[in-house]
Amino acid sequence: MGNKYSDQPVETGTNTPAVARPTHKAEGLSEREQKAIRISWKKISSELKINGRDFFVKFFEFYPVYIDYFPAFRGKSIEDLCRSRLVQAHGISVMYSFTTLVENLNDPGFFNKFMVRNMRAHEGRGVALQQYEEIFDVLILFLEEKLGARFDEFTRAANERTWEHFARNGRREHRATD
Ligand code: HEM
Repeated sequence: MGNKYSDQPVETGTNTPAVARPTHKAEGLSEREQKAIRISWKKISSELKINGRDFFVKFFEFYPVYIDYFPAFRGKSIEDLCRSRLVQAHGISVMYSFTTLVENLNDPGFFNKFMVRNMRAHEGRGVALQQYEEIFDVLILFLEEKLGARFDEFTRAANERTWEHFARNGRREHRATD
């Protein structure tokens, strides 16, 4: 099983998460934390096409089991997916969603609403909290890889809190509105 420190692919996404969870609770982000996230995200969103594809390829490298969740990707190898325009298109649409979230960091209401909607849209696809946690763990590794030294400890901690919050809060809100 891969983790934050060894960047090894994992065989399945059904057991232990790839990365240790941050232990702190996500509460409101300070102005400084929001700024750090926005700055780190600016670099990623300036190359949405490439980053969207690279992010999804990385996610599938860690969790090949999820390739089959996508009807159009079923049976494809990682090499095929690297070349696929569909992976690029899907990656762009997910990156847009992340960008919208980053633009609304100061609005918890938006954040929660978005997440509830997103979780609902994925319900019938076998995507639950575990998969969200996994995708956000991969997102942290991805940011680290793409941003290098710019992804300092402060920026990392702010990002971890945000994305962890995104998944957990979405589930709570989702339950509350059932
Ligand atoms: C916050 C994280 C995520 C965002 C923002 C997101 C966003 C999207 C969007 C915008 C779509 C296309 C619109 C739609 O059909 O609803 C989509 C489809 C889909 N997503 Fe996600 N997604 C996320 C997480 C995941 C995860 C973790 C998985 C699987 C492990 C997943 C699997 C799928 C599948 C299977 C589809 C349908 C693809 C198709 O039918 O071609 N998503 N997602």
